Amino acid sequence: MKRKSLVTALLILFTALISFTMPSLQVAAADTSLSDVQSKGTLTIGTSADFPPYEFHATVNGKDEIVGMDISIAQKIADDLGVTLEIQDMGFDSLLPALEVNKVDMILAGMSPSEERKKSVDFSTVYYTGGQNLVVRQSDEGIYQTKDDLHGKKIGVQTGSLQETLAQKQMPDSDLLSLSKITDLILALKTNKIEAIVMEKPSATAYVSNDTGLVTFDGAFELAEGEQGTAIAFKKGTQTLLESVNDSLVEIKEGNLIEGYLKEAGEHLKDSQGGTIDSEDAEDTGSNTMINYWNYFAKGTGYTILISVSSVLFGSILGIFLSLMRMADNKVIRGLATAYVEFVRGTPMMIQVMFIYFAVGYLVNIPALASGIIAVSLNSGAYICEIIRSGLNSVSKGQAEAARSLGMSKKLSMRYIIFPQALKNIWPALGNEFITVIKESSIVSIIGVSDLIFQTKVVTSVSYRGIAPLAVTMVIYFVLTFSLTKLLNYYEGKMNHD
Ligand code: ARG
Repeated sequence: MKRKSLVTALLILFTALISFTMPSLQVAAADTSLSDVQSKGTLTIGTSADFPPYEFHATVNGKDEIVGMDISIAQKIADDLGVTLEIQDMGFDSLLPALEVNKVDMILAGMSPSEERKKSVDFSTVYYTGGQNLVVRQSDEGIYQTKDDLHGKKIGVQTGSLQETLAQKQMPDSDLLSLSKITDLILALKTNKIEAIVMEKPSATAYVSNDTGLVTFDGAFELAEGEQGTAIAFKKGTQTLLESVNDSLVEIKEGNLIEGYLKEAGEHLKDSQGGTIDSEDAEDTGSNTMINYWNYFAKGTGYTILISVSSVLFGSILGIFLSLMRMADNKVIRGLATAYVEFVRGTPMMIQVMFIYFAVGYLVNIPALASGIIAVSLNSGAYICEIIRSGLNSVSKGQAEAARSLGMSKKLSMRYIIFPQALKNIWPALGNEFITVIKESSIVSIIGVSDLIFQTKVVTSVSYRGIAPLAVTMVIYFVLTFSLTKLLNYYEGKMNHD
């Protein structure tokens, strides 16, 4: 019987899951993309701000900003449309999914209009043409001079990029390391994890000019049409918005504006790194100079605390409900709660976060931060349910029986006899859960929530330093979790006295 209700509950869960995926089968409505943006008053672009001079983080007047040629273009388009510009920064590989589920109106991320992509999205006219380069360590300059010298070597590429496809096809026997952020690839190259990175020429030049330990040269890749230039991507059928953007691009070309945009980007690059950085010295003195980026770390820590505290709070409420459901007399209710707990514990949190943001977000547009909090709370709720349940179970049956025989109702005995004793077991486990949430919630950075991990990557990209930001972040996490442990121990000690 128990098994039957579990099966029923699982069935309900899967039906719900499937119904979430149904909207993708809907027929596209008439194109109102342009008027939608105008009535919204904002143009939301998706980008992956790790790609100077196209788009990157820089400190402007003491504040973090995303700047670059693409951003200047986006600003001009927004101005032409008479709307404000909003930028969503995420991993390059999340851009197309975000466009598909309407998280962004268009993608401006140095994206090449390849034939492959044209099958799923529409592109504006090409606004810039770069080229495909290789970046290697300066010490290897003499060894690697063409892509053929890199046979069988470990090569870095950005996940989902054209460079990934190029390396797969034209460097078939090399071993590919595919990462979501270029800053991580640079770090991998500098720490000898890989021998070279395939990168767009302007971006390669920008990174190399900021790091004397690296050099770049033309990769001599064979490029099909559409693989050289970069264009703006739109969801299929976004005709009216696309046409209006193409008009802005014509003005940009006729007015020769790109040159100015690139120059401006170059200045930001110089400013934010304070000139050329020698990679060796940079790592040595990293801990001193990381102070300059304290505001990034502070912002990240703030978000991490916000996400953890609210998730544990909502998670506890959900956990209490679930544990009550698991103790209910009704088998279906019990089965539902069990199925929920098993399902959440049996799937990776990363997928849950992406599911809430992309799949559920398809039906109701939930901003990234809220999606993150919802996903982490839903996840934590399942664990907290188990903590409460095992805490209650740990109080011996005799206690309840004694209370009942004294004439206490089930509710009263729960409140005055069982629960106070259970709390002693629940409390430390709940504390552990809180600490876990602080650390594990870092997964929300993949959907662009600026938590501590996200900000660490931003600091890596603005400071062009790999190790120092990691060390700082590690210390911050430790301070957070250790002070929480101390605080919880204090209350635990108090509980033992009464
Ligand atoms: N042009 C290449 C592509 O379309 C790389 C673009 C990478 N862009 C970025 N913002 N990281 O795949």
